[in-house]
Amino acid sequence: MGKQTLSVDIGGSGIKVMVLDEAGMPLTERDRKDTPSIPSPSAVISIVKELAATKEFDRVSVGFPGVVRNGITETAANLTPEWINFALGAVLADYLGKPTRVINDADMQGLGAIAGVGVELVVTLGTGFGSALFINGLLVPNLELGHHPFRKGETYEQQLGRAALERAGKKRWNERLQRAIATLHPLFNCDTLYLGGGNTKFIASELPSPVKTVPNIAGLLGGIALWKD
Ligand code: BGC
Repeated sequence: MGKQTLSVDIGGSGIKVMVLDEAGMPLTERDRKDTPSIPSPSAVISIVKELAATKEFDRVSVGFPGVVRNGITETAANLTPEWINFALGAVLADYLGKPTRVINDADMQGLGAIAGVGVELVVTLGTGFGSALFINGLLVPNLELGHHPFRKGETYEQQLGRAALERAGKKRWNERLQRAIATLHPLFNCDTLYLGGGNTKFIASELPSPVKTVPNIAGLLGGIALWKD
């Protein structure tokens, strides 16, 4: 049997894991625990350890909700400040005893969703607003559209993140989403624009071509792509 990958998605509301086979097919169900209320590195890592304890795997892929470079988390808008310049890859590899690779969560979701053809933009709608850009399958890492100005002096994340959805309600959130699509599509002129993340379930209106929704599971399935080298 080939190498088994524990794929981990660290989110603002849940931490999810699944084991993938060498071809990237799921070997287990998705397992999930709530993100701790104070999501510090030690609190999040102990949840990952708990989730990993019942699984068999040879290596680990992690999608993290912030900028990640060489296994080090550089930003974490929706977690705690201790994540800034935290060596997540090295620390988890040590705790779990397996080689570990870490990437931005939207980048990982994109890797599990794209067709690998042309310019593909992926937007994730969850606690935060994630984004990932690909050209013929090649990732431009750490695109942080979420913190870019969008409208009314607010960023995409302030207008379309989970807090905004709760505050503004589904109707206004949907209107904003349509505006965001109408802003982003002519900016990137992408061949496909994917919408992923847990809050895609609240999308109430028809999506214009070439916008597609992707199942949330793509966030974990993308984990296999971190080992294609
Ligand atoms: C972070 C991104 C992340 C997104 C979704 C944003 O706040 O800056 O890196 O991809 O949330 O989790």
